[in-house]
Amino acid sequence: MLVAAQAKVLVIDDNSHPCGEPLPSEVEVVSADCGSEAARKALVTFKPDVVLHLASKGGVQKAARDPGDHVKMSVASTVGLFDSAIKAGAARIVTASSGGTIYGEGAKLPAREIHKPAPLSAYGAAKRAEEIYMAALGLRHGISTLALRYGNVYGPRQDGTGEAGVIAITCYRLLERAAPRVYGDGGQTRDFIYVSDVAAANVAAVFGRVAGELNIGTGRETSVNQIVKRLLAESGRHTKSEFLPAREFEVRRACLNPARASRYLHWKAKVSINHGLEQTWSWFRKRHSAQRVATLGLP
Ligand SMILES: NC(=O)c1ccc[n+]([C@@H]2O[C@H](COP(=O)([O-])OP(=O)(O)OC[C@H]3O[C@@H](n4cnc5c(N)ncnc54)[C@H](O)[C@@H]3O)[C@@H](O)[C@H]2O)c1
Repeated sequence: MLVAAQAKVLVIDDNSHPCGEPLPSEVEVVSADCGSEAARKALVTFKPDVVLHLASKGGVQKAARDPGDHVKMSVASTVGLFDSAIKAGAARIVTASSGGTIYGEGAKLPAREIHKPAPLSAYGAAKRAEEIYMAALGLRHGISTLALRYGNVYGPRQDGTGEAGVIAITCYRLLERAAPRVYGDGGQTRDFIYVSDVAAANVAAVFGRVAGELNIGTGRETSVNQIVKRLLAESGRHTKSEFLPAREFEVRRACLNPARASRYLHWKAKVSINHGLEQTWSWFRKRHSAQRVATLGLP
């Protein structure tokens, strides 16, 4: 989308979690940790106007197992990147934050940005810390900064083999003939947002001027049970879910009010949950078939 919008793009990625799809040929790529000296040099040479920061390692569960390591692996690199971006002359930084974890429990839903952040998890706390560092550095150096607080992002190319991303994981498990896995009673809700809507918000943010924090969500709650039911219908399978104990540090309900993003970025989610699930299932199914043909010669 950024290339299509005529932006000259440099990607800095340490390849710790590749999605397996090639980037457009117009994109310059540097393989490095975003907080490293190599990244700093690449930025100084590239002289970006805007830095869009999407790199992060692990989600709620990984950060909860070792919060100190999460700070070293994600927060330290993030702050290093902000500093390098400023020293390279960037006039604006946009960072990916997490509306699903930053508000914690107790916000009136759909949560608005004025709700005081009260994250329950190390992951959410780290995201809030990154927002604070970015705003402080931005103030100190007179540059514009914006945190995009995403809901639960889903869609094609998401990793279905990890421990985060219930939609990708359920698609993967159904295609592997395994039962959907539900933590807790499945009544927990999330604001699921389709990947192309998030990409559109990122592009609007890169080219926009608004600073501060904006929710990137749909304003709608969907439960995990509803997701599983819908994906079972897409797959045509009739199988019972495997229920496991609820995970620690996960909020019961999450839903984001997107009114500010609509006002300041002129952005709105376009893809409904049903259409998004249909598209996601179709992508996972096609990729699964292609992999079977490639590895086993089976259709
Ligand atoms: N997926 C979601 O539901 C969701 C929700 C809220 C916020 N976010 C945030 O959005 C951003 C993107 O998430 P995602 O789901 O696409 O993650 P992802 O793991 O799919 O992609 C992260 C990318 O960053 C790279 N990377 C990781 N650490 C790096 C580092 N230190 N230096 C350079 N590259 C590094 C990985 O190789 C990968 O290409 C992250 O900041 C994440 O915390 C995601």
